[in-house]
Amino acid sequence: MDIRDVPEAHLDRALELAYLVFHEKPDEEKRKHHRELMRPCERIGAYDGDTLAGFVAAHPFTLSVPGGELPCPGLTFVSVAPTHRRRGVLSAMIAELFRRATAQGRPLAALWASEDAIYGRFGFAPATQGLSVEIDSRRPLALRVDPDERPLRLVDPADAPAVVGPYFDATRAVRAGRIARDAERWRGEWLPEDAEEDAELSPPRIVALGDPGGPLAGYAVYRTKGGNDDTGTPGVVRVDELEADDAAGAAALWRYIASIDLTGTVRAWGRPVDDPLLLFAADRDQVRVTGLHPGLWVRLIDVRAALTARAWAAGADLVLEVRDPHLAANAGRFRLTATARGCAYEPTGDAPDLTLDVRELSACYLGGTRVRHLVRAGLVDEHTAGAADRLDAALRTDPAPHTADEF
Ligand SMILES: CC(C)(COP(=O)(O)OP(=O)(O)OC[C@H]1O[C@@H](n2cnc3c(N)ncnc32)[C@H](O)[C@@H]1OP(=O)(O)O)[C@@H](O)C(=O)NCCC(=O)NCCS
Repeated sequence: MDIRDVPEAHLDRALELAYLVFHEKPDEEKRKHHRELMRPCERIGAYDGDTLAGFVAAHPFTLSVPGGELPCPGLTFVSVAPTHRRRGVLSAMIAELFRRATAQGRPLAALWASEDAIYGRFGFAPATQGLSVEIDSRRPLALRVDPDERPLRLVDPADAPAVVGPYFDATRAVRAGRIARDAERWRGEWLPEDAEEDAELSPPRIVALGDPGGPLAGYAVYRTKGGNDDTGTPGVVRVDELEADDAAGAAALWRYIASIDLTGTVRAWGRPVDDPLLLFAADRDQVRVTGLHPGLWVRLIDVRAALTARAWAAGADLVLEVRDPHLAANAGRFRLTATARGCAYEPTGDAPDLTLDVRELSACYLGGTRVRHLVRAGLVDEHTAGAADRLDAALRTDPAPHTADEF
């Protein structure tokens, strides 16, 4: 098997392979969209003679991490031909991706997993989580805070990159786990006219909060679907994104969403785990968490570079014994010395305070998973009492890491 770049001339072959393994039959418009999506991607193929038997694409993402951002390949279209599966093709393509990322100074990679079992073995782990929330909006949304009474206005989705894009960017500076969006990504991926999963949903609607001519105080992206009078099913509002400066702004946007005429249910997916709605909603029977699911899966490829690139919430001086069956440079004992000014991470012969797989370190990197919980789950060994708590205090991020962009 020859692992090499997939040139643009082979894009259609790569897409055919993906459609084959994902059981898809997209129309020409969708194919065109996929071609455009693949063009800026890093594309790795596994060739068996002339046959393209495996394909992995990686978006050239920039991911917000605590205190900054890092280049981060975002894996997608992971496909191996049914005639070539379980022969190490995916493993070889991932090894090539890790090799390139290391050489090019990209210390981590990310993906959304459709099958959890596949990616853990390569060191990927869920680093952010999302909540699904449902609001019974047949009655007014009961709130314990006063909503911001500044005006709301609808924004044309075509103007979203210019109008709400900068607001989203500003949230990336405070929330780890968010992927930078250019205008192309806003329009093609985040705000497509048709919602792929549900043909009945309206085009995206964007509502913005703030005085005309003044700065935005928040925005929401949503789609609607009419109800069915015969069955008595109420219309639905699906919330894709809602961001606000503060609780009053968020309350104003949720109140608006929950009061759209001819709808009786609000469904929001992928909400941050620390969404203030869950606290300022007066009636928890009206606002219910209906699911908790893994969001962005992260893999630290160059552990030292990734750790030294992030900010730390508290000082720590610990020896980590890291296992990494795929990338030898990450494996071994390292002294992590974190301060408010940054961290050092150097090889040591000292006894470890914690022993963990790179997969567990990846889960904790953005501050979305507690080391203490992994110790309790039997996935991290704590040799020195309190070491997990000290590492947790140093890794802590507030607000919680969050990723909305599924890819
Ligand atoms: C999933 C897929 C990419 C795996 O490719 P592959 O070339 O068969 O994988 P490899 O041979 O490199 O397997 C690597 C390891 O992962 C395991 N593995 C692969 N797919 C797995 C799955 N779906 N569930 C559990 N384990 C899996 C293999 O058994 C192997 O384990 P081993 O090293 O202990 O033997 C391929 O089967 C495929 O294209 N499936 C359909 C599309 C898909 O599911 N894509 C990924 C979802 S986003």
